[in-house]
Amino acid sequence: MDRSVPVDTVDIRTYFDENRKRVDGLLDQYLPSEDTEPKTLHAAMRYSVMAGGKRLRPILTLATYEYCGGSYADDDKIGKVMAALEMVHTYSLIHDDLPCMDDDDLRRGIPTCHKEFGEAVAVLAGDALHDIAFGLIAETGRAEVVTELALAIGTQGMLGGQMADIEAEGHEISRAEIVNIHRRKTAALLRCSVRVGAILAGAKETTLEDLTDYGEKIGLAFQIIDDVLDIEGDQKLLGKKVGADSKRLKATYPAVVGIEQARSDAAELIEQAVAVVDNDTGSMLKEIALFIGRRDN
Ligand code: IPE
Ligand code: IPE
Ligand code: MG
Ligand code: MG
Ligand code: MG
Repeated sequence: MDRSVPVDTVDIRTYFDENRKRVDGLLDQYLPSEDTEPKTLHAAMRYSVMAGGKRLRPILTLATYEYCGGSYADDDKIGKVMAALEMVHTYSLIHDDLPCMDDDDLRRGIPTCHKEFGEAVAVLAGDALHDIAFGLIAETGRAEVVTELALAIGTQGMLGGQMADIEAEGHEISRAEIVNIHRRKTAALLRCSVRVGAILAGAKETTLEDLTDYGEKIGLAFQIIDDVLDIEGDQKLLGKKVGADSKRLKATYPAVVGIEQARSDAAELIEQAVAVVDNDTGSMLKEIALFIGRRDN
């Protein structure tokens, strides 16, 4: 597919299917081949990245880019940023699953990276995905996008959230505290994925502010629903074990407010996010928010 999918003529399922394929192609293009040394490391990186996943972050970036008037066919900057975001996300999953973190052995329907390749290789595979991602973004020549990502996944963003998540294990925390964890560990990268799409398309400041709000809301809803699915989801659909959070005494949103309240808070966030983009050009961002609200994987 070499042309952008016209936003208003495709439904959300087609949009996801076609762009997942596009993202897979980009990842294959930008990841080193398994025949290149160090072969084991490259094999481990490809193993986790090419196992699939929803590709939500790069798809959000593209949908936001299009919302702001950009078109995939314009240049290769957007593709590099999309691939980079998925690599960073996959790095976070590989490290999140390590025995010293959440200690999970199933991810994207297959054994986790450390189960397949050992812990040392999994640590390095995560690091290497992070490095390739920043190299790709640097190639776009847009320093502000490098900064956006660095801040989103650093100590004030994803890593700060992961730190707080670990420290909260086994403790009772407040609603404000769990929101603060989820905003950083998960919403920060989703919000960043939206923001860089807008920045690359040259969105004006007020639009960027609105989209930041949209990204924040779908990001928080996304993690609340992740916590809900850990309780009542289907392992086959999720591709990861259910019940992992309670087993590890994780602080989760439903553990703090109850499952009913968790569901209704997520629905309210989705409704608020939809309101931000419910206009002539917002159809796909609206559909993505609604998809997050009803997702089962
Ligand atoms: C899982 O992310 C980790 C969280 C931030 C909750 P996804 O649910 O997007 O995982 P994949 O990419 O589809 O596998
Ligand atoms: C993951 O949160 C957040 C990051 C990877 C940054 P979870 O630990 O809840 O994600 P899953 O449930 O393992 O996918
Ligand atoms: Mg975790
Ligand atoms: Mg986890
Ligand atoms: Mg989870």
